[in-house]
Amino acid sequence: MAENTLSSCAGPETQTSFDVFSPTEYTTMLLGFLQENVDRVADRTVCEIGTGSGVVAMQAALLGARSVTVSDVERDALDAVSASFSRLPQGPADFSSLLGPLWQPYGTRRFDLILANLPHFPTPSLTLPGRLPTWAMGGADGRKLLDPFLEGLSEHLAPGGLAVFTHNRFVGIEQARAYLRARGLSLQTCRETIVHLSPLKVSALTHGASGYGEDVFTLGEHVFGRVCLAVASWA
Ligand SMILES: C[S@@+](CC[C@H](N)C(=O)[O-])C[C@H]1O[C@@H](n2cnc3c(N)ncnc32)[C@H](O)[C@@H]1O
Repeated sequence: MAENTLSSCAGPETQTSFDVFSPTEYTTMLLGFLQENVDRVADRTVCEIGTGSGVVAMQAALLGARSVTVSDVERDALDAVSASFSRLPQGPADFSSLLGPLWQPYGTRRFDLILANLPHFPTPSLTLPGRLPTWAMGGADGRKLLDPFLEGLSEHLAPGGLAVFTHNRFVGIEQARAYLRARGLSLQTCRETIVHLSPLKVSALTHGASGYGEDVFTLGEHVFGRVCLAVASWA
């Protein structure tokens, strides 16, 4: 058997409890944005909602963020992220982690840069193997967390600030744009990409593989979805 096959067959005995937060191609879209827009990170106040492994927030810290605040509903994630931050060679002067849903733990604080890769897969029920139930499930329309996140943006985005968040195109990017416009914010998209949807995810899609127009498409046995980064700023 080829060596790479062996390693990819590593069983549960090699899985640490923190693998449930391991990064995905959605995470890397945010990393790419940060690396290519250092001027929007350095010396800025940054928050990340739903930080998971914390790599996005760590990247912001390493690019010179003045302060980094992370939040999640999973205490294990926050404990691991706090430990990782304590080992960073150059951490931000000001790091804090907050437990709680969406904007709830933030009070009235505003940030220059707001980052999020929220659960927004359109399904009423889905727990992926090796993940927690809070990882991906976005409710039937995928917007159960996205909409309250958008709702709170105008109260938490500093003047001149940016909010950058992953957005499955198949849960209505134009809906997000209209929602934000009504709150005085404009929305642009970047880093358009296509992700493979596992058979389990496809079977959980509220409207099935053929119910999302051109934003979900099938090639042979495989189903793909269009994804982008959404960038919101004051209009
Ligand atoms: C798709 S994962 C993304 C994790 C990480 N930001 C990344 O990009 O790899 C979604 C994260 O949001 C967290 N989460 C789920 N529901 C949440 C909520 N209501 N408020 C805040 N975070 C939540 C999950 O625990 C998980 O860490």
